[in-house]
Amino acid sequence: MSSRFMDLMLTPSVQAAQARAYGRSQARPTTEGPQVLGPDEAAFIAGMDSFYLATVSEEGWPYVQHRGGPKGFLKVLGPAELGFADLRGNRQLLSTGNLSKDGRVCLFLMNYPLKARLKILGRAEVLEAASNPELAEALIVPGQQAVTERLFRIRVEAFDWNCPQHITPRYTEAEIREAVLPLRTRIAELEAELARFRP
Ligand SMILES: Cc1cc2nc3c(=O)[nH]c(=O)nc-3n(C[C@H](O)[C@H](O)[C@H](O)COP(=O)(O)O)c2cc1C
Repeated sequence: MSSRFMDLMLTPSVQAAQARAYGRSQARPTTEGPQVLGPDEAAFIAGMDSFYLATVSEEGWPYVQHRGGPKGFLKVLGPAELGFADLRGNRQLLSTGNLSKDGRVCLFLMNYPLKARLKILGRAEVLEAASNPELAEALIVPGQQAVTERLFRIRVEAFDWNCPQHITPRYTEAEIREAVLPLRTRIAELEAELARFRP
Protein backbone atom coordinates (compact mmCIF):
# COMPACT_ATOMS: atom_id res chain seq x y z
CA MET A 1 0.00 0.00 0.00
CA SER A 2 1.39 3.40 -0.91
CA SER A 3 2.75 5.32 2.05
CA ARG A 4 1.17 8.58 0.86
CA PHE A 5 -2.21 6.86 0.77
CA MET A 6 -1.67 5.44 4.26
CA ASP A 7 -0.48 8.81 5.53
CA LEU A 8 -3.91 10.18 4.60
CA MET A 9 -6.00 7.15 5.57
CA LEU A 10 -4.38 5.71 8.69
CA THR A 11 -6.20 7.94 11.16
CA PRO A 12 -6.10 7.44 14.95
CA SER A 13 -9.50 5.69 14.88
CA VAL A 14 -8.26 3.26 12.21
CA GLN A 15 -5.14 2.64 14.28
CA ALA A 16 -7.33 2.10 17.35
CA ALA A 17 -9.45 -0.46 15.43
CA GLN A 18 -6.28 -2.30 14.41
CA ALA A 19 -5.02 -2.25 17.99
CA ARG A 20 -8.35 -3.59 19.32
CA ALA A 21 -8.47 -6.37 16.73
CA TYR A 22 -4.83 -7.38 16.47
CA GLY A 23 -3.16 -6.01 19.57
CA ARG A 24 -1.03 -3.60 17.55
CA SER A 25 -1.48 -0.96 14.89
CA GLN A 26 0.43 0.05 11.80
CA ALA A 27 2.70 3.06 12.13
CA ARG A 28 1.35 6.04 10.22
CA PRO A 29 3.89 7.10 7.61
CA THR A 30 4.80 10.74 7.16
CA THR A 31 4.96 11.86 3.54
CA GLU A 32 5.23 15.14 1.75
CA GLY A 33 3.42 16.43 -1.29
CA PRO A 34 1.16 14.65 -3.71
CA GLN A 35 1.88 11.25 -5.18
CA VAL A 36 2.65 11.49 -8.87
CA LEU A 37 0.82 9.33 -11.41
CA GLY A 38 3.11 7.02 -13.34
CA PRO A 39 2.76 5.34 -16.75
CA ASP A 40 0.84 2.37 -15.24
CA GLU A 41 -1.76 4.67 -13.67
CA ALA A 42 -2.00 6.81 -16.84
CA ALA A 43 -2.57 3.75 -19.04
CA PHE A 44 -5.15 2.33 -16.64
CA ILE A 45 -7.03 5.63 -16.45
CA ALA A 46 -6.98 6.00 -20.25
CA GLY A 47 -8.78 2.66 -20.57
CA MET A 48 -11.63 3.49 -18.20
CA ASP A 49 -15.17 4.00 -19.49
CA SER A 50 -16.55 4.55 -16.01
CA PHE A 51 -15.60 5.22 -12.44
CA TYR A 52 -17.20 6.02 -9.10
CA LEU A 53 -16.76 9.44 -7.56
CA ALA A 54 -17.12 9.85 -3.80
CA THR A 55 -17.63 13.26 -2.22
CA VAL A 56 -18.54 14.32 1.31
CA SER A 57 -21.68 16.30 2.07
CA GLU A 58 -21.37 19.38 4.25
CA GLU A 59 -23.10 17.33 6.95
CA GLY A 60 -20.48 14.60 6.72
CA TRP A 61 -22.39 12.00 4.69
CA PRO A 62 -20.42 10.10 2.11
CA TYR A 63 -21.96 10.31 -1.38
CA VAL A 64 -21.01 8.19 -4.40
CA GLN A 65 -22.01 8.80 -8.01
CA HIS A 66 -21.24 6.71 -11.08
CA ARG A 67 -19.58 8.54 -13.96
CA GLY A 68 -19.53 7.07 -17.43
CA GLY A 69 -18.37 7.99 -20.91
CA PRO A 70 -16.26 6.76 -23.80
CA LYS A 71 -12.88 5.26 -22.89
CA GLY A 72 -10.48 8.02 -21.91
CA PHE A 73 -13.14 10.52 -20.79
CA LEU A 74 -11.29 10.76 -17.48
CA LYS A 75 -8.13 12.54 -18.56
CA VAL A 76 -4.67 12.81 -17.05
CA LEU A 77 -3.94 16.55 -17.32
CA GLY A 78 -0.60 16.50 -15.52
CA PRO A 79 1.61 14.36 -13.26
CA ALA A 80 -0.85 14.77 -10.39
CA GLU A 81 -3.88 16.21 -12.14
CA LEU A 82 -7.03 14.64 -13.59
CA GLY A 83 -10.13 16.08 -15.19
CA PHE A 84 -13.45 15.19 -16.74
CA ALA A 85 -16.44 16.97 -18.21
CA ASP A 86 -19.64 17.15 -16.16
CA LEU A 87 -22.66 16.82 -18.40
CA ARG A 88 -26.06 18.43 -18.12
CA GLY A 89 -27.97 15.81 -16.23
CA ASN A 90 -30.27 15.19 -13.34
CA ARG A 91 -30.20 18.81 -12.09
CA GLN A 92 -29.48 17.67 -8.54
CA LEU A 93 -25.83 18.77 -8.52
CA LEU A 94 -25.07 16.69 -5.45
CA SER A 95 -21.36 16.22 -6.23
CA THR A 96 -21.00 19.84 -7.35
CA GLY A 97 -22.71 21.15 -4.22
CA ASN A 98 -20.66 18.91 -1.94
CA LEU A 99 -17.44 20.05 -3.59
CA SER A 100 -18.25 23.70 -3.00
CA LYS A 101 -17.82 23.02 0.74
CA ASP A 102 -15.22 20.26 0.74
CA GLY A 103 -13.10 19.46 -2.30
CA ARG A 104 -11.97 16.05 -1.11
CA VAL A 105 -12.82 13.20 -3.43
CA CYS A 106 -12.13 9.52 -3.83
CA LEU A 107 -12.22 8.05 -7.32
CA PHE A 108 -12.77 4.31 -7.50
CA LEU A 109 -11.68 2.79 -10.79
CA MET A 110 -12.51 -0.84 -11.56
CA ASN A 111 -11.23 -2.85 -14.48
CA TYR A 112 -13.22 -6.09 -14.19
CA PRO A 113 -11.54 -8.08 -17.00
CA LEU A 114 -8.11 -7.29 -15.52
CA LYS A 115 -9.41 -7.77 -11.96
CA ALA A 116 -7.66 -4.55 -11.06
CA ARG A 117 -8.80 -1.52 -9.12
CA LEU A 118 -7.26 1.82 -8.39
CA LYS A 119 -8.33 4.21 -5.65
CA ILE A 120 -7.39 7.84 -6.03
CA LEU A 121 -7.66 10.50 -3.34
CA GLY A 122 -7.65 14.10 -4.40
CA ARG A 123 -9.08 17.56 -4.17
CA ALA A 124 -11.51 18.62 -6.86
CA GLU A 125 -12.59 22.00 -8.10
CA VAL A 126 -15.60 22.55 -10.29
CA LEU A 127 -15.26 25.11 -13.07
CA GLU A 128 -17.83 26.49 -15.49
CA ALA A 129 -17.15 25.13 -18.97
CA ALA A 130 -18.20 28.40 -20.64
CA SER A 131 -15.60 30.47 -18.77
CA ASN A 132 -12.72 27.95 -19.12
CA PRO A 133 -12.49 27.28 -22.85
CA GLU A 134 -8.96 25.80 -22.80
CA LEU A 135 -9.78 23.25 -20.16
CA ALA A 136 -13.13 22.58 -21.85
CA GLU A 137 -11.26 21.87 -25.08
CA ALA A 138 -9.07 19.35 -23.24
CA LEU A 139 -11.94 17.61 -21.47
CA ILE A 140 -14.93 17.65 -23.80
CA VAL A 141 -15.24 14.33 -25.57
CA PRO A 142 -15.78 14.77 -29.33
CA GLY A 143 -19.20 13.59 -30.47
CA GLN A 144 -20.64 13.84 -26.97
CA GLN A 145 -24.41 14.32 -27.21
CA ALA A 146 -25.12 15.92 -23.82
CA VAL A 147 -24.03 19.49 -23.09
CA THR A 148 -20.92 19.92 -20.94
CA GLU A 149 -21.88 22.36 -18.20
CA ARG A 150 -18.99 22.06 -15.79
CA LEU A 151 -15.43 20.79 -15.66
CA PHE A 152 -14.03 18.80 -12.77
CA ARG A 153 -10.31 19.30 -12.15
CA ILE A 154 -8.77 17.01 -9.55
CA ARG A 155 -5.41 17.47 -7.87
CA VAL A 156 -4.28 13.97 -6.99
CA GLU A 157 -3.05 13.51 -3.43
CA ALA A 158 -2.50 9.77 -3.30
CA PHE A 159 -3.47 6.55 -4.99
CA ASP A 160 -3.46 2.90 -4.23
CA TRP A 161 -3.76 -0.31 -6.24
CA ASN A 162 -5.69 -3.17 -4.70
CA CYS A 163 -5.00 -6.85 -4.99
CA PRO A 164 -7.21 -8.76 -7.47
CA GLN A 165 -8.79 -10.99 -4.82
CA HIS A 166 -12.58 -11.28 -4.79
CA ILE A 167 -13.06 -9.43 -8.08
CA THR A 168 -15.28 -11.42 -10.44
CA PRO A 169 -14.25 -10.71 -14.03
CA ARG A 170 -17.05 -9.02 -15.98
CA TYR A 171 -17.11 -7.90 -19.58
CA THR A 172 -18.86 -5.08 -21.38
CA GLU A 173 -21.10 -5.63 -24.41
CA ALA A 174 -18.34 -4.31 -26.67
CA GLU A 175 -15.76 -6.66 -25.14
CA ILE A 176 -18.07 -9.67 -25.54
CA ARG A 177 -18.84 -8.67 -29.13
CA GLU A 178 -15.10 -8.57 -29.89
CA ALA A 179 -14.44 -11.87 -28.10
CA VAL A 180 -17.18 -13.79 -29.97
CA LEU A 181 -16.40 -12.28 -33.38
CA PRO A 182 -14.18 -15.25 -34.47
CA LEU A 183 -16.95 -17.64 -33.36
CA ARG A 184 -19.61 -15.76 -35.30
CA THR A 185 -17.39 -15.71 -38.37
CA ARG A 186 -16.80 -19.46 -38.06
CA ILE A 187 -20.53 -20.14 -37.59
CA ALA A 188 -21.30 -18.09 -40.71
CA GLU A 189 -18.70 -20.09 -42.68
CA LEU A 190 -20.13 -23.40 -41.48
CA GLU A 191 -23.70 -22.30 -42.25
CA ALA A 192 -22.66 -21.32 -45.76
CA GLU A 193 -20.97 -24.70 -46.21
CA LEU A 194 -24.05 -26.50 -44.88
CA ALA A 195 -26.29 -24.54 -47.25
CA ARG A 196 -24.36 -25.97 -50.20
CA PHE A 197 -25.43 -29.52 -49.21
CA ARG A 198 -29.09 -28.62 -48.79
CA PRO A 199 -31.34 -29.70 -51.66
C1 LIG B 1 -29.88 12.75 -20.39
C2 LIG B 1 -28.79 12.47 -19.39
C3 LIG B 1 -27.56 12.02 -19.86
C4 LIG B 1 -26.51 11.76 -18.96
N1 LIG B 1 -25.32 11.29 -19.43
C5 LIG B 1 -24.33 11.00 -18.54
C6 LIG B 1 -23.09 10.47 -18.98
O1 LIG B 1 -22.85 10.22 -20.17
N2 LIG B 1 -22.15 10.20 -18.05
C7 LIG B 1 -22.35 10.45 -16.72
O2 LIG B 1 -21.44 10.20 -15.92
N3 LIG B 1 -23.51 10.96 -16.28
C8 LIG B 1 -24.49 11.23 -17.17
N4 LIG B 1 -25.68 11.72 -16.71
C9 LIG B 1 -25.83 11.96 -15.28
C10 LIG B 1 -25.66 13.40 -14.96
O3 LIG B 1 -24.59 14.02 -15.58
C11 LIG B 1 -25.63 13.64 -13.46
O4 LIG B 1 -26.23 14.88 -13.30
C12 LIG B 1 -24.26 13.74 -12.88
O5 LIG B 1 -23.76 12.44 -12.80
C13 LIG B 1 -24.27 14.46 -11.54
O6 LIG B 1 -24.77 13.63 -10.53
P1 LIG B 1 -24.79 14.11 -9.01
O7 LIG B 1 -25.81 15.19 -8.87
O8 LIG B 1 -25.19 12.88 -8.27
O9 LIG B 1 -23.43 14.58 -8.64
C14 LIG B 1 -26.72 11.97 -17.58
C15 LIG B 1 -27.97 12.41 -17.15
C16 LIG B 1 -29.00 12.67 -18.01
C17 LIG B 1 -30.31 13.15 -17.49
